[in-house]
Amino acid sequence: MSHAPAKASSETRKQLFRVWRGDKTAGTFKDYTATVTPGMVVLDVIHQIQAEQANDLACRWNCKAGKCGSCSAEINGKPRLMCMTRMDELPTDMPVVVEPMKAFPLIKDLVTDVSWNYDVKKKIKPFKPRKPDAPDGTWRMDQADVDRVQEFRKCIECFLCQDVCHVLRDHHKHEEFIGPRFLVYTAALEMHPLDTEDRLADLRKSQGLGYCNITKCCTKVCPEHITITDNAIIPLKERVVDEYFDPVTKLFKMFKKKT
Ligand code: SF4
Ligand code: SF4
Ligand code: FES
Repeated sequence: MSHAPAKASSETRKQLFRVWRGDKTAGTFKDYTATVTPGMVVLDVIHQIQAEQANDLACRWNCKAGKCGSCSAEINGKPRLMCMTRMDELPTDMPVVVEPMKAFPLIKDLVTDVSWNYDVKKKIKPFKPRKPDAPDGTWRMDQADVDRVQEFRKCIECFLCQDVCHVLRDHHKHEEFIGPRFLVYTAALEMHPLDTEDRLADLRKSQGLGYCNITKCCTKVCPEHITITDNAIIPLKERVVDEYFDPVTKLFKMFKKKT
């Protein structure tokens, strides 16, 4: 069934919102009728509902500019930033359904506990630069190598990619898989032209790179349009294969051990 998209009109209209309310013990969807004016985003409507109908509705936000990564939620079943989802993109002939992310424990209403992500980040080996190339303490790098990692640095840690990934969301492999956000973070370190650390063993063993089956769902939801799968995950998988399964590399390692 197709739904009519909202028209970018100058008219004020009423829109039904269905918002998840509750905490980790119990909850349910509640309906609210909001007044939508031109230019509003979903976060504006949530704030309006808070102000006028449900003062105790919990949501997390900071910048309202798509940069802090705080307002992540699921809108009509899709992980999105509430502050970057325009009301005129959404169908008008059905309720706008807003619910919390599913891959993390719920705190209240639209707010989830994303602290697992910060714990994962702490376990990734940090940047370890090589010695400076010049006596004045500076390095020389190819521009192409510098450019390669810039894309990964756009991440705002909204964790929408973690939320959509079936390995975390459906299979709950939080103990064994670091998720697409931290594969992007690791790729930024591994591909950095100055870095000398080796994270491939961790990626293969404790960080679960093998669980990713390249579905590309993470890439599709990233609000920063980072090409997570093609530019970060696949090159990391290739590096692991080269290191552990390439017969020439294996022979070279055996030879190195003997000498
Ligand atoms: S491509 Fe990999 S990391 Fe991304 S959502 Fe799919 S399984 Fe998860
Ligand atoms: S990679 Fe994209 S979706 Fe994932 S946390 Fe960063 S900005 Fe959000
Ligand atoms: S409020 Fe900062 S990204 Fe939405």
